[in-house]
Amino acid sequence: MYLVLINNGLRIADNSHLITYHYFCHTMSVNKEIKKITTHTLQKMKEAGEKISMITAYDFSFAKIFDAAGIDIILVGDSASNVMAGHETTLPITLDQMIYHASSVVRGSSRSLVIVDLPFGSYQGNSKEALNSTIRIMKETGAHAIKLEGGEEIIESVKRIVGAGVPVMGHLGLTPQSIYKFGTYIVRAKEEEEAEKLKKDTLLLQEAGCFGIVLEKIPAVLATEVSHKLAIPTIGIGAGSGCDGQVLVMHDMLGINTEFKPRFLRTYLNLHEQVTGAVQHYIRDIKSKDFPNDQEQY
Ligand code: KIV
Repeated sequence: MYLVLINNGLRIADNSHLITYHYFCHTMSVNKEIKKITTHTLQKMKEAGEKISMITAYDFSFAKIFDAAGIDIILVGDSASNVMAGHETTLPITLDQMIYHASSVVRGSSRSLVIVDLPFGSYQGNSKEALNSTIRIMKETGAHAIKLEGGEEIIESVKRIVGAGVPVMGHLGLTPQSIYKFGTYIVRAKEEEEAEKLKKDTLLLQEAGCFGIVLEKIPAVLATEVSHKLAIPTIGIGAGSGCDGQVLVMHDMLGINTEFKPRFLRTYLNLHEQVTGAVQHYIRDIKSKDFPNDQEQY
């Protein structure tokens, strides 16, 4: 491991992924004295060339750990539908269920910016429906911003939500709420026509007032080009190193979900194996009457 000074901030460089990052994370930011991350902090990070870190969370306990570790953004993703509820797609999760997850995450975070996904069916009808769903999220959870999927087709909704004073993050490329339109989870915008639409959509979302855009599973060259063109930050997932930040689903990066192994995923823990080992140890201790011992009872 070695330390380098960039922009008056201390950075850690290391080839191994399990580094003592949490000891240094607050000094790694261009905004090291910042107590709360806001959309303005993210904009400053982009301008200073500091990458933005984002992870999903769905409950109080993990949100508390991620927030204390120094993550910039916690996304209450509609991937809760997959990793928390066991559905095959993100489509079944409801607004009430997202509100439940989001309010738990908000109670666990004090520094990170908390963004909540508008779930499928809560905004596609019209901009009034989109605003009403947003208002419920903001009032009932205490979150700081919302995210929604799509480009040109949701621009009116973005404008209306931003007009009501709520920060909006866009989401382009592979948009899982449209999985039945795509038919597969393969890389999007490889063809010229789709890439051109994506570029146009990023500019429309920026003009409509989005503070950032998630780019999911698109070619790295395209994501880099878009990130350079836009004034607002891009957050990539499977979109390469040219994005202004990166996001991963917590169950994937912590190795809880072992079946999902896309090329873009880096796994930082093998929690599935560790939890299995711990629970098997616990079972053995109970069966062998080792637990509880004299010190573990009243
Ligand atoms: O729902 C989610 O977790 C997301 C991320 C994959 C960006 O939208």
